Amino acid sequence: MANDGAVTVRACAKINLGLEVLGQRSDGYHDLVTVFQTVDLADELTVTLGGHGLRLVVEGFAVPDSGENLCLRAAGRYFEAAGVEPAATIALVKRIPVGAGLGGGSSDAAATLCALQRIVGAGVDLDALAAEIGSDVAFFLRGGTALGEGRGERLTTSSQAASGYVVIAKPDLCISTAEAYGLLGPESYSDGAATRRLFERLQDGAGLLDCADLLVNVFARVVAARYPEVAALREAMLEAGAAVAMLSGSGSAVFGLFAGAGEAEHCAQALRAKGYWIHAGEMVNYSPCASDGVRGEQR
Ligand code: C5P
Repeated sequence: MANDGAVTVRACAKINLGLEVLGQRSDGYHDLVTVFQTVDLADELTVTLGGHGLRLVVEGFAVPDSGENLCLRAAGRYFEAAGVEPAATIALVKRIPVGAGLGGGSSDAAATLCALQRIVGAGVDLDALAAEIGSDVAFFLRGGTALGEGRGERLTTSSQAASGYVVIAKPDLCISTAEAYGLLGPESYSDGAATRRLFERLQDGAGLLDCADLLVNVFARVVAARYPEVAALREAMLEAGAAVAMLSGSGSAVFGLFAGAGEAEHCAQALRAKGYWIHAGEMVNYSPCASDGVRGEQR
């Protein structure tokens, strides 16, 4: 091992500024076109090498017990690819709500891979591992503003990162990604043109609020029909001053975009008073693999 130490990495949440599904594939996954965007809501992970096997300690939101945790799966795959006996503790401070369409689990997995690459130093091909762990994990290795195609793992990163004020709100319900995809039918499918156009306009430096007509989410209609609480939250966000309000990924969180910090804070307060979980912040261009993404000591 190159280093026997510990590193702390942030793992940002994402929103999808556009999300269209083209159709279902023979492997059961759906082909999509999406614009991913990292935001300043983040989990924090400290990875410490040593001991025997892999251990995960969680603080904050509980992570689901169902299935293998994505951090542990990522760490397991990393050690296997590096040809090193697994020996690490991951301390995770979970601030990104689960079952919200904010990509928290995938982001934690990407941050784990970046942290291990830093301290184990085995030069593993992280992109190859990421795609095996989950459809969104490859995006989180890069962050910023990116067009995702295929399952979401084929990425084009924008040289011009989007920016702006965002409020994220979550009703008291969780939606699994698999369940949301199960609500789609052929009538939900589109050709991806609006989302590709959105990405081109952002790359040309257009402001997000000037592209509002191109912001679409394939899950908006089916999720609102199945969960009226989500439709009500979106209405409440628009009433509280959001210029645009949209479902994030497959939900259940809704995000709103704002021209200024004051408008965003006003909306956040109004929704907090109604009992929603709220984050008010900004879009960020952040990768856990960049040198400023990893802090900590390497002994
Ligand atoms: O890849 P990931 O494990 O995040 O996907 C979770 C579930 O979401 C998959 O099992 C699948 O049902 C659905 N999915 C899909 N098409 C995608 C991404 C996810 O059908 N492009």
